[in-house]
Amino acid sequence: MNYKIMTADEAAMFVNNGEIVGFSGFTPAGCPKEVPTAIAKRAEAEHAAGREFKIGMYTGASTGDSLDGALARANAVLFRTPYQSNKDMRTRLNAQDAHYFDMHLSHLAQELRYGFMPKPNIAIVEACKLTDDGKIVPTSGVGNLPTFCRLADKIIVELNAAHPEELEGIHDIYEPQDPPCREAIPVYKPSDRCGKPYVQVDPKKIVAVVKTNRPNEVGKFSPVDEVTAKIGENVANFLAGELKAGRIPASFLPIQSGVGNIANALLGSLGENKDIPAFEMYTEVIQDAVIDLMKKGRVKFASGCSLTVSQPKLEEIYNNLDFFKQRVCLRPQELSNNPEVARRLGLITINTALEADIFGNVNSTHVLGTKMMNGVGGSCDFTRNAYISIFTTPSTAKDGKISSIVPMVSHLDQSEHSVKVLITEHGVADLRGKSPIQRANCIIDNCVAPEYRDMLRKYLASGSKTHTPMNINTCFNMHKAFAETGDMHNAEF
Ligand code: COA
Repeated sequence: MNYKIMTADEAAMFVNNGEIVGFSGFTPAGCPKEVPTAIAKRAEAEHAAGREFKIGMYTGASTGDSLDGALARANAVLFRTPYQSNKDMRTRLNAQDAHYFDMHLSHLAQELRYGFMPKPNIAIVEACKLTDDGKIVPTSGVGNLPTFCRLADKIIVELNAAHPEELEGIHDIYEPQDPPCREAIPVYKPSDRCGKPYVQVDPKKIVAVVKTNRPNEVGKFSPVDEVTAKIGENVANFLAGELKAGRIPASFLPIQSGVGNIANALLGSLGENKDIPAFEMYTEVIQDAVIDLMKKGRVKFASGCSLTVSQPKLEEIYNNLDFFKQRVCLRPQELSNNPEVARRLGLITINTALEADIFGNVNSTHVLGTKMMNGVGGSCDFTRNAYISIFTTPSTAKDGKISSIVPMVSHLDQSEHSVKVLITEHGVADLRGKSPIQRANCIIDNCVAPEYRDMLRKYLASGSKTHTPMNINTCFNMHKAFAETGDMHNAEF
């Protein structure tokens, strides 16, 4: 190999205070691990010597603890975008120690190319294979790797032997042209490939190669509980009904399913439902449940940006690569989350809300309006362009002291215009073709926890007698009651 092989500590010396780094990967899958930890160590040493050291961070989405966690604990982050979900990073962002701007995941690469934000000085990327002529084969997650490498002046490659070189062929690397030259993206079904199986970079830009054998840091998924099982059943029954009514074609449509425990559990239920034919996925993260369903023949193909699976599941994939390479495709997030493709394929999108209001507006990001949880991720990329967009949420949180359905969301991510169906463990609110007052009644009757229904009916009755009934004096009373007493049951209307 013609490149300079060095330790992570040596490679970290390429990153200077105030510079911007683009990290590969998507969720902990495909993220570099050794160099970010070494940068964090360097930041700590600089801080101890009384010098400033912070970097700007572009990622694919959330990352692993050796990246987000290490840099956050070292207070080494100037700004960060897009999605994150690390506990220590979240604490930093909410304490205003680092600036965070929450972007749609499909937007970051193009907005960097457009020059809306400064380009990364350096790209730090994980690969399972690197050739002397600059071909980089990513590992289990792609993220924005191609664009970061294109825009950065320097590239550091973490060559990770925990991912086999035989992974080559699973990726579909494609970067659209920028307007006014952009052409249609030739993906007409989830299994269509339109790019290359590797990222081509100028080998002269690769300033360091760090060898490692470190596994991904994807956590375990929670086991399915009664509430998530019921939500899954409600989603599956709703879709089976749509199929029967002829509103979904008999061959079914590709599914996009969100991140987290609820999404993973829900997909499992969907796959088990015999009224739903085997389906394809055009999604962002491929989680454990998809792999299980693929083995049973219930998922025929999955296009995504990352294999966000637990370590045993990843090993299973790597031990059966011939099987999975025919059924999985990993793409940059600009393509996995592309609105043009989502609209063309007719995706059934299923994402999770933290909070929804009685009119169908959704908050997926801000706990009680102010505290950032993770970010919008790709939920808006998909929801706005879906064939049918579904949001799910347990009807309550924190042992029932929070109703997930409130008079008005405390932060807005998805508006009533994009949210077609809301589903909790209690039932389904089909919001299509309904006015605000009809939607409110439908959501209260079908989705709200029974103990909160009278409260919300009382609120609705107190609202203005206008197109959207609203009471600006009391619409946040449930949030206020929780802030003041720790329980939304104490809200008065
Ligand atoms: N108010 C306050 N807290 C709430 C809440 C509400 N209305 N609803 C849920 N919570 C809390 C839960 O109690 C839990 O807290 P804990 O971590 O202290 O236990 C936490 O929020 C997460 O809830 P959980 O039930 O574990 O959900 P999850 O793991 O399925 O994640 C989201 C849910 C919304 C945070 C997650 O799906 C997300 O980040 N979505 C946005 C991005 C997205 O949709 N991406 C997909 C596009 S492909």
